[in-house]
Amino acid sequence: MTTRRAFVAGTVAATAAGLLPSRGARAAEDFRFSKNPFTLGVASGYPTPDSMVLWTRLALSPLEPGGGMPQEVIEVDWEVATDERMRNVIQHGTAYATPEWAHSVHIEPSGLDPGRDYWYRFEGGGVRSPIGRTRTAPTYGAPLDRLKIGLVNCQHYEQGYYTAYRHLVNDNPDLVVHVGDYIYEGNAPKKVRNHNLSVAFTLDDYRARHALYKTDRDLANAHAAAPWLMTWDDHDVANDYANDVSEDDDDPQLFLARRAAAYQAYYEHMPVPRWAVPVGPAMRLYASRAFGNLASIVLLDQRQYRAPEACPPLGRAGGHRIEAAKCPELNDPSRTMLGGRQEAWAQGQLASSQARWNLLAQGTLMGYNNEAPLPDKLFWTDAWNGYPAARERLMKFLAERHIANPVVLSGDIHAFVVSGLHLKPSDLDSPVVASEFVASSVSSDAVSEDYFEKIRKLNPNLLTATGLNRGYVMFDITQDRLHADLVAVDTVKTPDSGRKTLASYVVEAGKPTPVRS
Ligand SMILES: [Fe+2]
Repeated sequence: MTTRRAFVAGTVAATAAGLLPSRGARAAEDFRFSKNPFTLGVASGYPTPDSMVLWTRLALSPLEPGGGMPQEVIEVDWEVATDERMRNVIQHGTAYATPEWAHSVHIEPSGLDPGRDYWYRFEGGGVRSPIGRTRTAPTYGAPLDRLKIGLVNCQHYEQGYYTAYRHLVNDNPDLVVHVGDYIYEGNAPKKVRNHNLSVAFTLDDYRARHALYKTDRDLANAHAAAPWLMTWDDHDVANDYANDVSEDDDDPQLFLARRAAAYQAYYEHMPVPRWAVPVGPAMRLYASRAFGNLASIVLLDQRQYRAPEACPPLGRAGGHRIEAAKCPELNDPSRTMLGGRQEAWAQGQLASSQARWNLLAQGTLMGYNNEAPLPDKLFWTDAWNGYPAARERLMKFLAERHIANPVVLSGDIHAFVVSGLHLKPSDLDSPVVASEFVASSVSSDAVSEDYFEKIRKLNPNLLTATGLNRGYVMFDITQDRLHADLVAVDTVKTPDSGRKTLASYVVEAGKPTPVRS
């Protein structure tokens, strides 16, 4: 039975998001698909103690413009059950999949029980979707013994198979956290499989790119196995962009049109809440979720609001290496990574958290500082390294406000990196205030290992820094300790690869430096 409360809540949210049909919806009973429209699978995300987002997108021919769908509003029924065979359905309702939003559906049931598994599916035009499993968060502040989180990022489709996801699903996580480069807008020089079109610029381009990625079975199965939290990095739009500044320093108005297309396609393909619905080039993605008294996750967007990269060479605004001494702008305290509003929000979330562990999930690396011997000290401008004042402000906040057990979860560099984060990143004698775990890429190629050898020598705070392996990080979090396995797949160049645990680390509560176990 659909409760009236659930129906009304859904209607209000749909109206707010502008998602009610602008023309008559086809009644489910008189409309039949001749083939399966659920080619992109199902997904869930952003769990709270009584809800989560349930997602699907109808696409008869997912790689075609419009997904091969009629330019019609389609009624989609949804069900939530307490069993995997969907026998005990406890909520159901109807949503409207519109061509304006690529026939995507974002459902937010309410009134579910905390800390338990649920199963869900959709039905449209007489066809049923696959069944997904999801899970509500435990009651806020309630005792919780254990939470398992898989950390993933960087999945260039052309550069490899997504076998990491198959192994991740077998690890049975409560939650998957994705920190960006879910798609790549451009093409790889060496490929094991092909993108369906060249560089993405338009809404149709980004929709087709997302659709291609979602047709991968390992990725679809990972979405159907557990709820996800997600944030983006650069390639979800374009390489090394900063706010309205593109790598090639295009006209900002042109770049914002491209960003709007990419953000809309991102919204349409992800289990993100309806409040994230984009308005032109603006889409709020930052969010937090708490899991009992054990863990809080603050999910940050370090692309949309950041200051332009420091001291760019003429005609190029993306990542580059600069000598700090020749770029006074680098240390300007007004240069922001998160934007003032998000930074204040994140501080508020951290300060009010009651959780034992405070995880900060975001795209780019915080943990190293130095890419050349002193005094030539080089800074890579695209990561936190290029925003040193903003990084130091965050470290200082964590220390001064005694934020409990901060752990930063990062991605971007296609390498496993583990380190303690120092109060003053440029002074390794200053105290360690947090730990950082960078997950290697799911499939994207790494730079040469010579680079990481050099980085390890120049940055003795790095406990692991290697780009040799693709994979993910599996966290097993309890009240006393956070255990992290760096899980590597043998290869992504052929399907069905095995896995191994490359290294394991433990962070004991109250002792921020990770220790190899
Ligand atoms: Fe990447």
